[in-house]
Amino acid sequence: MNLTTNDRASYLAAGAGPSPAAGPAGAPGRAPSFALETVGLTRRFGDFTAVDAISFGVPSGTIFGLLGPNGAGKSTTIKMLTTLLPPTAGTGRVAGFDIVRQPVEVRRMIGYVPQMLSADGNLSAYENLLIFAKVYGIRVPQRRKRIMEVLAFMGLADSAGTLVNKFSGGMIRRLEIAQSMLHRPPVLFLDEPTVGLDPVARRNVWEHILRLRDEFGTTILLTTHYMEEADELCQEVAIMHQGKIVTVGAPAAIKAAAGVATLDDAFAHYTGSSIKDGGTFRDAARVRRVARRMG
Ligand SMILES: Nc1ncnc2c1ncn2[C@@H]1O[C@H](COP(=O)(O)OP(=O)(O)O)[C@@H](O)[C@H]1O
Ligand SMILES: [Mg+2]
Repeated sequence: MNLTTNDRASYLAAGAGPSPAAGPAGAPGRAPSFALETVGLTRRFGDFTAVDAISFGVPSGTIFGLLGPNGAGKSTTIKMLTTLLPPTAGTGRVAGFDIVRQPVEVRRMIGYVPQMLSADGNLSAYENLLIFAKVYGIRVPQRRKRIMEVLAFMGLADSAGTLVNKFSGGMIRRLEIAQSMLHRPPVLFLDEPTVGLDPVARRNVWEHILRLRDEFGTTILLTTHYMEEADELCQEVAIMHQGKIVTVGAPAAIKAAAGVATLDDAFAHYTGSSIKDGGTFRDAARVRRVARRMG
């Protein structure tokens, strides 16, 4: 199901909204149910609009990509959906719960790997996971088993006792994903899961993300500025530019509609700029200003 922003708004306005519970998508003759959706989701910082009335739905058990250059508004969108940042306008639902009115319920249903490092280098992999097991309220008798299961699932069983500051970038990312799935959340948010990784480590992370979807039916929203990553992993993507969704749909459909061979070219087609240049100079300048402020 490929809805543009406008299609989606009229779809909802027509009263065809999804049922609150997450379930299999696109059953014949029924409105699809979304594990996650946004309607007019907006975030302003002062007079700057970082996320501008975006609307999309993610069918249960699929991988959805928010794709765009630095400054497009991807992380801000994830922060609103994970209830870390209140929207200025609009709303979203995650696993049937409203992000504004039911933030506690939303948090119980999600895992989140932020863009920034979230593992402690001075602890072993096991110790990092033990902290999360306690935070998530996993009972003492189950902790060890659950931790060893997720380590094995992410290909880190042999490194359980190793200090994380000895890990490669790819291993750290896989550990962070392990942390986020310890409580078996139905919806997972991965912000730039492979940024800074070499091609082999990137592919390894991709394989684990796909296994999460295929073996657990996890619904995954990831952000990336790598077009080939979105093409490889995502059933549907939304291309974001300057806070807006310029198009949404299956990668093949987006490429076909733009009459181009790659998502890179589709981005250029829809925005008039190249994602490799970081969108536009204005975006780049703003990202650097923020980076300087944050030290
Ligand atoms: N706390 C904030 N205060 C002011 N501007 C912000 C803040 N957070 C993000 N922005 C701005 O919002 C825009 C989108 O940022 P972000 O969502 O991090 O983009 P992306 O993740 O796509 O790189 C950027 O221009 C960024 O500078
Ligand atoms: Mg970001």
